[in-house]
Amino acid sequence: MSKPDLKPGQAPCEVSDLEPVAADVPKVVEFREVKKTYTTPGKPDFTSIEGVTFAVEDIPGVGEFIPILGPSGCGKSTVLRIIAGLPPHFPHTSGEVLVKDIPVSHPGPDRGMVFQDYANFPHLTVQDNVALGLDFADRPEKERRELSLEWIAKVGLDPKRDARKYPHELSGGMNQRVAIARTLIMQPRIILMDEPFGALDPVTRHRMQDLLVNLWRELEATVFFVTHDVAEAVFLGERIYIMSRSPGHILHQLRVTPPDAPSMETQKEKSFQDSVNAVKALLDPLED
Ligand SMILES: Nc1ncnc2c1ncn2[C@@H]1O[C@H](COP(=O)(O)OP(=O)(O)O)[C@@H](O)[C@H]1O
Ligand SMILES: [Mg+2]
Repeated sequence: MSKPDLKPGQAPCEVSDLEPVAADVPKVVEFREVKKTYTTPGKPDFTSIEGVTFAVEDIPGVGEFIPILGPSGCGKSTVLRIIAGLPPHFPHTSGEVLVKDIPVSHPGPDRGMVFQDYANFPHLTVQDNVALGLDFADRPEKERRELSLEWIAKVGLDPKRDARKYPHELSGGMNQRVAIARTLIMQPRIILMDEPFGALDPVTRHRMQDLLVNLWRELEATVFFVTHDVAEAVFLGERIYIMSRSPGHILHQLRVTPPDAPSMETQKEKSFQDSVNAVKALLDPLED
């Protein structure tokens, strides 16, 4: 595995090898030589990922934040959706995908997914959108009402003013807050986010990054976060995976300093910019 020219102490970013996690250690997510090939009659087979291997140790009360970067089409969404158990990416063609050391066989409440296009239900109010998972889980009415109002507040919306609004009455940032609340209200052990802030303006994006850091600390969940924005990955991440060109596998693993100040402030610091440049130096050659 190649390493960039980073001098010790130059920046809070360190490229390390993907250290194997001992077989007898519990893992929250593990991929072993995972491959996905699409077979369409009359067309050549297409392999979107190949040899994807990584393991995230399961430490009680600790959730890691893991951004995934890589060139367009390398298979980032594929990896996320295989963890989630969502077709057509799931099932994979070969290799092993384990969540809590059990092979993934279908989606489950232990894994929550947030997409770029928020996927709120247009005919449901904010509160009903947020409470949807609780409805499916048949939780009592009182609990649904109270918890959904609590989560509306947690994601920075106003329970009094916003709960009865419909998605078309909300800005992009507010819609994404609703989608995040709908996923996190179920307290998943694993949160899968596919370019969730890709459609937001820069100011809203910084606010959402700060919100996410706070919610993540409270939930102690493991987050896999696909993004194209290197600064966002360096700000949010503790370890970053960089995927190779298609068919993708994990090419580099980086250790970065977890966030300890608001996004906007942190991103102005020289050491932060040095880290971003070091990551870009690894990524740029992978883009066409
Ligand atoms: N259902 C499908 N059938 C065939 N190819 C697909 C399908 N879904 C995704 N792909 C291909 O798999 C590759 C990886 O896709 P994706 O995981 O979405 O990449 P990324 O998220 O990194 O941009 C792409 O070339 C994409 O066109
Ligand atoms: Mg994608």
